[in-house]
Amino acid sequence: MKHFFSRIYSNIVLCEDLYEMVFSWNEEVQLPLPGQFCTIHVAQSTSPLLRRPFAFSGFDPLEKTASIVFKKVGVSTEILAGKQCGDVVDIIGPLGNSFLAYPQRQRNILVAGGTGLGPIFFWKRFLQQQKASSLMVAGYSSKSLVPDIEEFDDETVVICTDDGSQGFRGTVVDYLRTLPDDFFQDTTLYCCGPWGMLKACNDFALDQGSECYVSLEQIMACGVGACMGCAVKIIGESSFARVCIEGPVFNSKVIAWT
Ligand SMILES: Cc1cc2nc3c(=O)[nH]c(=O)nc-3n(C[C@H](O)[C@H](O)[C@H](O)COP(=O)(O)OP(=O)(O)OC[C@H]3O[C@@H](n4cnc5c(N)ncnc54)[C@H](O)[C@@H]3O)c2cc1C
Ligand code: FES
Repeated sequence: MKHFFSRIYSNIVLCEDLYEMVFSWNEEVQLPLPGQFCTIHVAQSTSPLLRRPFAFSGFDPLEKTASIVFKKVGVSTEILAGKQCGDVVDIIGPLGNSFLAYPQRQRNILVAGGTGLGPIFFWKRFLQQQKASSLMVAGYSSKSLVPDIEEFDDETVVICTDDGSQGFRGTVVDYLRTLPDDFFQDTTLYCCGPWGMLKACNDFALDQGSECYVSLEQIMACGVGACMGCAVKIIGESSFARVCIEGPVFNSKVIAWT
């Protein structure tokens, strides 16, 4: 993990309020892995004061660039959305743990909801490079929130919308329920998205006897383990885990889902 300044290569709109920002990577810094995140201080002033966490959505070793996919939801992401090619951003990363592959298992199912798209896409491409296949299921409330990206045309990607305006009508878990039960034997689920979706994925995986890993997006203050602001309740001896240090990726069985 290092603190460095990075130059923005591009910052494009993928769909309503969703952006993909590509930025230069400092060669002295360890390469980011799928599941890991960085924190960005979006302004050169003290307002907004706090750094904001974003998961990596990719890394290009030839161009030496990393990327994030982010949604404009408040002060910092509004500023980030206004950044242009050539602007400089203040980064700390890579932070946290990463997704791990289990080659002895037969199948990988990748589930993304909302801004969970970035890390899940990064993981899908990473598995592809390792010659491991995967099925990706991405959920949105409606068509206007589905990013217009080439990779969604792939037959290994299923789009679900709550209102049925694009792809499968229903939630990602509704879609998973349409697959035969034996599909989930020897399967690992990797999920990133809103808490409710992750909880539903955990419940589904428990029913099916599949392993399930979730990447959590808690509100963070320091991002480096010092404040406990990102702690989640877990099952076991130590009752809390810090998402920024012990996570953001957890086996879903250890989370005390509320
Ligand atoms: C490990 C990690 C990875 C993340 N990866 C991504 C990513 O890849 N893309 C992305 O768009 N966002 C991601 N987030 C969430 C992102 O950090 C917040 O959306 C961002 O901090 C909002 O900043 P803001 O100043 O624009 O919003 P604020 O003005 O601070 O808040 C606006 C609204 O967003 C909510 N919010 C703030 N922080 C979070 C959070 N961490 N999770 C959920 N809701 C939040 C607030 O409750 C409020 O309702 C990630 C968070 C974590 C912890
Ligand atoms: S954000 Fe401070 S401990 Fe995780």
